[in-house]
Amino acid sequence: MNNIETGNHISGRSVYLDDIPELKGTLHAAVFGSPVAHGTITKLDISKAQSLPGVIRVFTFNDIPGQNEIGGIIADEPLFAANIVHYNGQAVALVVANDELTARKAVKLIEMTTAPLEVITDPRMAKEKGELLIPPRTFRQGNITGAWKKCDFIFEGRADSGAQEHLYIETQGAYAYPSDNNSIKVHSSTQGPTSVQKTISRVLNIPMNHIEVDVARLGGAFGGKEDQATGFGVMAALAAYILHRPVKLALHRLDDMRMTGKRHPYSSDFRIGLTRDLKIVAFQTTMYQNGGASADLSPAIMERTLFHSTNAYFIPNTEVTVYSCRTNLPPNTAFRGFGAPQGMFVIESAIAKAASEMKIPAHEIQQKNLLRENDEFHYGQTAKDVRIRNCFDTLIKRYDIEKITAEISAFNSSNEILKKGMALMPVCFGISFTNTTMNQARALVHIYQDGSIGISTGAIEMGQGVNTKLAEVAATLFSVSTTRIKLETTNTSRVANTSPTAASSGADLNGNALIIACNKLLKRLKEVAAALSNSNIDDITLENEAVLKKGNPTGIAWETLVHKAFLSRISLTENGHYSTPYIYFDKTKEKGHPFAYHVYGVAAITVTLDCLRGTYNVNDAHIVHDFGNSLNPIIDRGQIEGGLMQGIGWMTMEEVVYNDEGRLLSNSLSTYKVPDIYSAPETVDIHALETEGPELAVMKSKAVGEPPLMYGIGAYFALQNAIIAFNPGYKPDFDAPLTPEKVLMKLYKRR
Ligand code: MOS
Repeated sequence: MNNIETGNHISGRSVYLDDIPELKGTLHAAVFGSPVAHGTITKLDISKAQSLPGVIRVFTFNDIPGQNEIGGIIADEPLFAANIVHYNGQAVALVVANDELTARKAVKLIEMTTAPLEVITDPRMAKEKGELLIPPRTFRQGNITGAWKKCDFIFEGRADSGAQEHLYIETQGAYAYPSDNNSIKVHSSTQGPTSVQKTISRVLNIPMNHIEVDVARLGGAFGGKEDQATGFGVMAALAAYILHRPVKLALHRLDDMRMTGKRHPYSSDFRIGLTRDLKIVAFQTTMYQNGGASADLSPAIMERTLFHSTNAYFIPNTEVTVYSCRTNLPPNTAFRGFGAPQGMFVIESAIAKAASEMKIPAHEIQQKNLLRENDEFHYGQTAKDVRIRNCFDTLIKRYDIEKITAEISAFNSSNEILKKGMALMPVCFGISFTNTTMNQARALVHIYQDGSIGISTGAIEMGQGVNTKLAEVAATLFSVSTTRIKLETTNTSRVANTSPTAASSGADLNGNALIIACNKLLKRLKEVAAALSNSNIDDITLENEAVLKKGNPTGIAWETLVHKAFLSRISLTENGHYSTPYIYFDKTKEKGHPFAYHVYGVAAITVTLDCLRGTYNVNDAHIVHDFGNSLNPIIDRGQIEGGLMQGIGWMTMEEVVYNDEGRLLSNSLSTYKVPDIYSAPETVDIHALETEGPELAVMKSKAVGEPPLMYGIGAYFALQNAIIAFNPGYKPDFDAPLTPEKVLMKLYKRR
């Protein structure tokens, strides 16, 4: 079934933040961001801005009734800089005016001077200077010190991966207005309405029950609105609360790019040891995460890097350390994969390094070391329902890797200028928030007396199709058409204390809560049906909007059943609460069972490189993916295609560049290149591995949001193989993104 929102999307009827009809008297806000990356504020003069006709008020930290603090995990992030600015673009003031243009004009009249402080943009330098956001963490397995002796080969290297701009279609924004009883209502483009609510409560010093955050849908998020939407929601709320007027704040694209954090760049040193028969015996890595100026979600992202640092491999002796480094960049944040892609890039780099030194294809090492059933992950969880070998074997069979390899060699020896390369990218991704507490969700279901159904959950629809999946869950349980079902906006007054829609877990957590609510209602309706048809409740089933008794029609339709239940004064409303069972993690030991299950898959990526120009095409991606029992193959395929492209973009062309003063140079779409249709592989072949699907996935349909992004990592190594085909003197290095400029340098680089 298609996404239930498609019709409204293509006809322009879907409501995004900017489509909400404006209330009379609505004011418009614009943010003044620091023009420097690090400095002590010596003067902040808002008088010229304040006196511009049409300006209502300019807010600074002085105007905050509660705490000037928006950090979600660590209290290290002011809403408005007070004495020191820590990154270029950091919010210092908010101008509120009668119209948007005036607000923006007034922003330019704000005068700020600073006494410069040292600007650090490099995480290794930050670590040297002791600038850490939190203490480092290390995950260990086996005995790394003793293991090196058992290795026939040991290779060392360095791997760097860059930032990535989320480029959600809808920029950050919020619309806030006063509501009854000294309360405030906020429409926010956020993945985490409860975070917005909680933070407004802290900053305004009013209780959470006075704040209602509502989200219809987002025009994309990709992790960029898990934490970073909060500040803008709070600013709009602050102005609306103090001025008693509706206030709208929506960032211009250039401001959004400059002011918000991105995927964390990582710089890592690795050491890998193998035996002659290609068994990886030991793997050690130290990673420097570029966290930006405050913690934001960096501690959680660092944790997922640790979890996924061995990707889909069993390595008996492992030691992984991550330093979360404070730099003078916007706080880097969640981005699809949440630190896992950065971790996986390092182990894949280590394998590629070993392969090139040993003059064998990397996939031989990959294949030898894939996880098996009951292997223990380096974080203590025992691997169950492991599908990576099935995926790998299926791919190799479906897409004759030996034959392709031979064809590529033949092509390369008969072509001077064009070279082809191929690489395989296995993926193992754990499903659950690594913070156990967050793995809970609630759903509220109303069956109206006409038989229509309204569903509220904590899930945010951001284009990923979660509303469609939830509608399908309820439609399946009640055995009614999805046209009877409406997904309500995500609203903190209807469903409270929610986790952000993140960690690929939106459908699982909210879907399972929905199942609980629906089953309670179903039981009640069956009791009514049993009474109506003089039968035992166990003989009652609902099928195709009708009541059956022992499989035979009773003549009672869904609508009649609901109406009779209402007349009998039976409650047609239910709440479901779900918390993922079994999971836990002990941070003192860095061991536990953090994930409900894992998603597995593997991609083979083939590229052709123009060795005169350094330009390239990704020719095809052959993927075998474990969907479990997919609830919606169309949506899931869309997630794979989108994730793959976003991963290819991150690895190849998307280059976020800051200068040494911490100013974003790739600050617009003319200087920041994202993949378009011409960058897409000509073939994307996605094969679903046939499995039953795990019990803890919603209706056994596995989470699909983040895992496919990491297939794109294969593009880096495919390109690298093509470079080696042209320049055998090139010693692989690992410095993503592999832009055409970098490719060109490597093509003509001699050892
Ligand atoms: Mo997602 S990167 O967990 O918001």
